[in-house]
Amino acid sequence: MLAGAIGFSPSALAQNNVTAVWTRADALKIQLNSTNTAPRISPDFPIMTEEVWIWDTWPLVNLEGRTLSVKGWRVIFSLVAPRNIPFGDRHWVARIGFFYSRDGRSWVYGGHLFPDGESFGSREWAGSTLLVGNTVYAYYTASGHDGGGVDPTDALQRIAMATGSIIADNTGVRFTGFTNHRIILEPDGQFYQTLEQSMGGPIIYAFRDPFVFRDPADGKNYMLFEGNTGGVSGSVTCGPREIGDVPPGHVVPPEANLYTGNIGLAAGGNGLENWELLPPILSANCVNQQTERPHLVIRGNRYYLFTISHMFTFAPGLTGPDGLYGFVGPALRSDYQPLNGSALVIGNPADAPLQAYSWYAMPNGFVESFIDTVSTEGGVVFGGTLAPTLHVALSGDRTNIVSELKYGFIP
Ligand code: FRU
Repeated sequence: MLAGAIGFSPSALAQNNVTAVWTRADALKIQLNSTNTAPRISPDFPIMTEEVWIWDTWPLVNLEGRTLSVKGWRVIFSLVAPRNIPFGDRHWVARIGFFYSRDGRSWVYGGHLFPDGESFGSREWAGSTLLVGNTVYAYYTASGHDGGGVDPTDALQRIAMATGSIIADNTGVRFTGFTNHRIILEPDGQFYQTLEQSMGGPIIYAFRDPFVFRDPADGKNYMLFEGNTGGVSGSVTCGPREIGDVPPGHVVPPEANLYTGNIGLAAGGNGLENWELLPPILSANCVNQQTERPHLVIRGNRYYLFTISHMFTFAPGLTGPDGLYGFVGPALRSDYQPLNGSALVIGNPADAPLQAYSWYAMPNGFVESFIDTVSTEGGVVFGGTLAPTLHVALSGDRTNIVSELKYGFIP
């Protein structure tokens, strides 16, 4: 709409500071149906390893976001925690682990990516890992204060990186290096909320989940991440731009202004080491507090922008399933429109609302996620392992779950 309306070419639009919006009117259209409801996951799912819980997962990719094979091995990275601690406690001791596989289906656990004691923060949260030339670039969320110990009240988040090398041979895959950790981004308080500004909000703020890629339009490197709108909690106004064209009678509860998720952008230029904050590319002000793990699939001149969100993070007066949400626009910075009118792409079934989470869409339309909490007649079963991969067809601004593939299939 905007691109045509003001006559900018996509590349000119990329230069300006447009922040697209996910409006309350869009979110009011969220509805589970046969195109977007994930199939039920049976409670007898296989577990990838007895050693660790596994949740947020991402493959080793190149700058185009394509999964790589290194000497015949596929590699994925997951947040991991010992399987002998309660599932709900995993966030406070999270580390990045890795797995390798010949067939992209049966995964061998390789241990932690970083040597002990090297990463910033008190735990490692989600990120992205690229192989460029012979260097492995690992971007992650340094969560908690350095040396902070196991402390669920410590909400600090910063974005960090380190580089290392991959060694792949007949016996498997290992990594070396990753002793040069650096904090590369912290919220500025203007575009992105700081920990101090977030105090008083009902749900933890975000400055996390980096996703690094090259934009083919200008050949430069960028990072997406999950943020919140800068300023103290409650300072946002829910105006016409945030509300959109809602049906008559829609009331915006005053506390909706405490929900300020955004998809942040940083520029790396021609390099991958030095990052500069730019204004967010999408705002969910008054709609949702968390637009987690943002990532992109670029198809020709269509930019498919995906994010994950929870039912409990929607602003008052709105609801949606734990799911994968997406938007499409003609350029990295553009007037993104919600896919399917509402943004919902994959949702957990209504009778299994917590069965999976942390969906990640790959350029081939395959979407991986992890099994969270599955209900059975005897109670609940915690997953902590990869869910069946789903194949989602992307066609213009519409999507459709076309098939369910094997558990953890990441070819
Ligand atoms: C999504 C998420 C990420 C975060 C991680 C923490 O599942 O909340 O945003 O990096 O989990 O465990």
